[in-house]
Parts: sequence; C-alpha cells; structure tokens
Amino acid sequence: MIELKHLCRDFGEGKLTIHAVNDVSLTIESGDVFGVIGFSGAGKSTLVRCINLLERPDSGTVLIDDVEMTALKSGELREARKKIGMIFQHFNLMPSRTVAENIAYPLKGSGLSRQERDEKVRELLKLVELEEKEKAYPSQLSGGQKQRVAIARALANDPKVLLCDEATSALDPQTTKQILKLLKTLNEKLGITIVLITHEMAVVKEICSHVAVMDHGSVVEQGDVYSVFANPKMQITRNFIRTTSNLHKMEELIEEGARIADLQPGELIIRLSYVERNVAEAVISQVSRRYNVDINILFANVEILQGSQLGGTVAIISGERADVTKAIEYFIEKNVEVEVLKDGRVSDPADA
Ligand SMILES: Nc1ncnc2c1ncn2[C@@H]1O[C@H](COP(=O)(O)OP(=O)(O)O)[C@@H](O)[C@H]1O
Ligand SMILES: [Mg+2]
Repeated sequence: MIELKHLCRDFGEGKLTIHAVNDVSLTIESGDVFGVIGFSGAGKSTLVRCINLLERPDSGTVLIDDVEMTALKSGELREARKKIGMIFQHFNLMPSRTVAENIAYPLKGSGLSRQERDEKVRELLKLVELEEKEKAYPSQLSGGQKQRVAIARALANDPKVLLCDEATSALDPQTTKQILKLLKTLNEKLGITIVLITHEMAVVKEICSHVAVMDHGSVVEQGDVYSVFANPKMQITRNFIRTTSNLHKMEELIEEGARIADLQPGELIIRLSYVERNVAEAVISQVSRRYNVDINILFANVEILQGSQLGGTVAIISGERADVTKAIEYFIEKNVEVEVLKDGRVSDPADA
C-alpha cells in the first residue's frame, strides 16, 4: 500500500544541516497497522509528513497504492491526498465550529448535496460513537472525544491510509486504550492501513502488526512486532522494550545490594527470556525435575503478543554445579535465552 524508497529530507544549510529523514526505505502492506517508534527528534513526524507530501522529500520516492505521489502535479496531489487521512497529538480541530462542522469540513467541494453530506457526517459520528456530540464545540469535549472527532474528520473522504502522529500522546492511559481500540476496529472494519507514529512501546504492543525503529533519521530495525520484541537487534530497540517490562529491574536491584539479590553459595540469579514463538512454559518444571535443581522465581513477566508468549522470568537456580550447567544448557536447547545476572559462588571475590 505504501512504499518509501530512499527518502531523504534535510533541514538547515551547510554545517548545520539536519538529516531529519536519512535514506529511509519501507514497505507497508495493505491492512497493516504499522508502528514507527523513536525518541523525540528521531525524524518520525518528518517521515509521516513525507508520506502525504505535507513535507516534500529532497530525494526518494513515495508510492501509495501504486501511485507515485512524488511525481504528481499540485492538482493531482490534492486529489490523491484525499485518500490519506491524518490525525495529530493536539487534534487540530477548528474551535469556532461544531463537531459536525469540523467533520464536514473536508467534504467541501466534494460535490455531495447538503443532505448527502449530513448523512455522511452522521455515519462518521456513529462510527466513532459520538452521535450525541454533533452540536457541541471542541472546547466542550474531553481529549478522547476531541480525538474521535479528528478521526471522523480524517475518515470523511474514505481514505485508504490513516496517518497518526502521536495521536494518543496527549491522552491518559485509559483514553489511550480506547482510542487504540477504535483505530484497531477501523482497521478491521474498513480495511484501512494505519501508520502510527509513537514514542511509546506500549502503544506499538497494543495494536501494531509491524514496527520500524527510527534513530537520527534512519530506520535502524524493522519487522513484525513479535520478532522485534523477542529478538531486538539494536540497543535502542532494547531500551524501548525495557520500558514495558520489569525484567530488567534485577540488574538495578543487584547493584543496589537489595536483599532479594542475596545469594547462598551455589546459587545463581538467571533471567530466562522467550525469544521464539511457542515455547512451552512447562520448561521450568521439566528442568527442575530432570536436573534436580531448585528454581525459585523472583519475578516473571509473560504476556501474549500476536498469539505467542513473550517475556520471561528472573529466578534463583541452585543445585550441584554440574546439574545447574546442564539445566542452563537445556533451556538454551529449548530456545529459551539464559543470562546469568549474578553467581553466588563468585560474587564475593574473597570466596572465589
Ligand atoms: N521545519 C523544520 N525546520 C528545521 N528543522 C526541523 C523541522 N522539522 C523538523 N526539524 C528537525 O528535524 C529533526 C526530526 O524532527 P521530527 O521529525 O519532528 O522528529 P520526531 O517526530 O521523531 O520527534 C529534529 O532535529 C527537528 O529539530
Ligand atoms: Mg514528532
């Protein structure tokens, strides 16, 4: 549906040039909910603005539904843009117009009769579940309601693509969930392809099928959400993922000398991570039985992402040293990643 090839967009001149988008190539399939994640300043907004040519790329091509957007003349571009809706962090509604007037705005010049237009607005209000707010003004709405109006307006011309630039970043967590759920419903019901820009990994986890990670203008990692979460290749991706799980708290606890991290001789603190789909959870009890080791779970964070378990466990493992070694080898054989965070035998140099 969307194909970006070698997109570049610079700002500034000479020594002060910022490569806001630096040679980005991406393919987004029809029906995807495609997340683009990165820290502030990574180039995400510039990238989405290049998709609908609000920002003209300095080089590279944008193809949408096989139409080369970058080659269109201004009149053709105006038409083509109607097939791309966009919503923003701060909603961008017109404060002096009612909800219905805001939604009807993009239908100006569409050739619809007044009656057809009213009908369309009602249909859109129903879709975003705001029928009773038709005559309200934006200032009378909550943040979530404002974003619903913005979504309805973005859908007025039946776009094939919806671009969302930090669309939930100004909303509280519960409202965020509701808006994400609405976007997912629209994706499924209307088959609309969604490109969702965010700086929050939790948003990606909630609704995206694919994700691209941006850093300093470049896409540094991309793939289906499960693979990227389970096997992040880049440090920046790991940092994002850590914000959504407590599995990396253990290092902090060890560093702080927390009591939970105190070990008896022969004990090890290990972190087990599920990095492949369909790893059976029973593997911990199997290992314990087979190798006569004790596994005391300190904490765990396992969830279901795209139908497969993702996450892991931090535990203290103890037993005969040879058995512990075999147990760890067994985990690895079963595609469970093992990291030894602390080894009771060598933690105190005086004992080593
Ligand atoms: N219109 C502009 N003029 C100059 N610099 C800009 C402009 N828009 C964005 N930038 C710069 O480009 C970089 C990427 O910005 P942006 O795309 O907004 O990142 P993000 O959305 O990931 O926070 C930043 O360094 C930003 O300061
Ligand atoms: Mg931005």
